[in-house]
Amino acid sequence: MRTFMKLSTLAAALCLAGLAQAQGNAPVKVGFMLPYTGTYASLGNMIESGFKLYVQEQGGKLGGREIQYFKVDDESEPSKATDNVNKLIKRDNVDVLVGTVHSGVALAMAKAAKESNTLLIVPNAGADAITGPMCAANIVRSSFSNWQSAFAMGKVAAEGFGKEKGAKKAITITWNYAAGSESVKGFTEAFEKGGGKVVKDLNLPFPGVEFQALLTEIAAQKPDVVYAFFAGGGAVKFVKDYAATGLNKSIPLYGPGFLTDGTLEAQGAAAQGMLTTLHYADNLDTPRNNAFRKSFALTYKSQADVYAVQGYDAAQILAAGLSAVKGDLTKRDALTSAMHNVVVDSPRGKFTISAAGNPVQDIYLREAKGNNNEVRGIAVKALADPARGCRL
Ligand code: BEZ
Repeated sequence: MRTFMKLSTLAAALCLAGLAQAQGNAPVKVGFMLPYTGTYASLGNMIESGFKLYVQEQGGKLGGREIQYFKVDDESEPSKATDNVNKLIKRDNVDVLVGTVHSGVALAMAKAAKESNTLLIVPNAGADAITGPMCAANIVRSSFSNWQSAFAMGKVAAEGFGKEKGAKKAITITWNYAAGSESVKGFTEAFEKGGGKVVKDLNLPFPGVEFQALLTEIAAQKPDVVYAFFAGGGAVKFVKDYAATGLNKSIPLYGPGFLTDGTLEAQGAAAQGMLTTLHYADNLDTPRNNAFRKSFALTYKSQADVYAVQGYDAAQILAAGLSAVKGDLTKRDALTSAMHNVVVDSPRGKFTISAAGNPVQDIYLREAKGNNNEVRGIAVKALADPARGCRL
């Protein structure tokens, strides 16, 4: 019996050593599962561009290993998410999943990543549960939780900021899915703690853009402020429709920064002066952000946005893990521990990762000016998601 156990331990060790050797100089397989079509298509493309930019800046290698890319268009469609993620896990046999944008799709990805113990870096989707009850050593987020930027806006809306006075009565409006409802919840928590009252929550199915009836309802209710979560193509349409009704002249439109990030050119005059909260602002005047924006603009002939930053930082987190193990993916514990313990030198400013796997980061108050979301100040410093339900 003893001899048998010794032999099987030896066989396992040889197998791992063989695996490590087989990895040798073979590329690390990175699978992007992102939206490349639909209302979030530009977000998916920016994330991929940001990720590849960082890898390119490192000479195409992380932890001494080349990177090979695979990709699947998830269409922001939760009903296809499990099949889509299994294309990357089972068909392409990727080492690392990078995705996605839509919280509903990301929840299915996180479940599949946990079940197969595949590394997952979430470069956008804020679903609170991913770094809450579903938290795991093999999952890290480079972006935010839906609670984070929403909570910061609730605080600003209730307390006021500079010459902006605090508000008492708010209406919320969003798409009816995890990101929208969690964003509204985070806003309401801080706004009501600060003495305000959310009098009505309005919503419509994702990715619908039939806003007229809801805008009529807002006009009838006359709140002090409106809080909205929309992003991508839907955010462009909402901000324009809001301004077209004239509501923006009497009722400020607030939101997490997704409402105006990567969208200002298309929103034009309708978005000018809007205040939002987010973990990034275009004009952060630091050597790190300036160098990043220059490099992005030179490479892609377009301006970076928050999604590009999150992709870039996803690659930085993977780089920290791979460097710690010199590219040896079999050293799993050391790899995931380095990914959780990294201090990311991000264009947004340095940030750490919580035990639950979510960035602990400053949330800026920004104002839309021209094609930039300019920083007005820090709404909440080093904000950590409460990670409710995480047992790590
Ligand atoms: C989400 O679904 O979590 C999400 C999508 C776009 C922007 C921000 C969050």
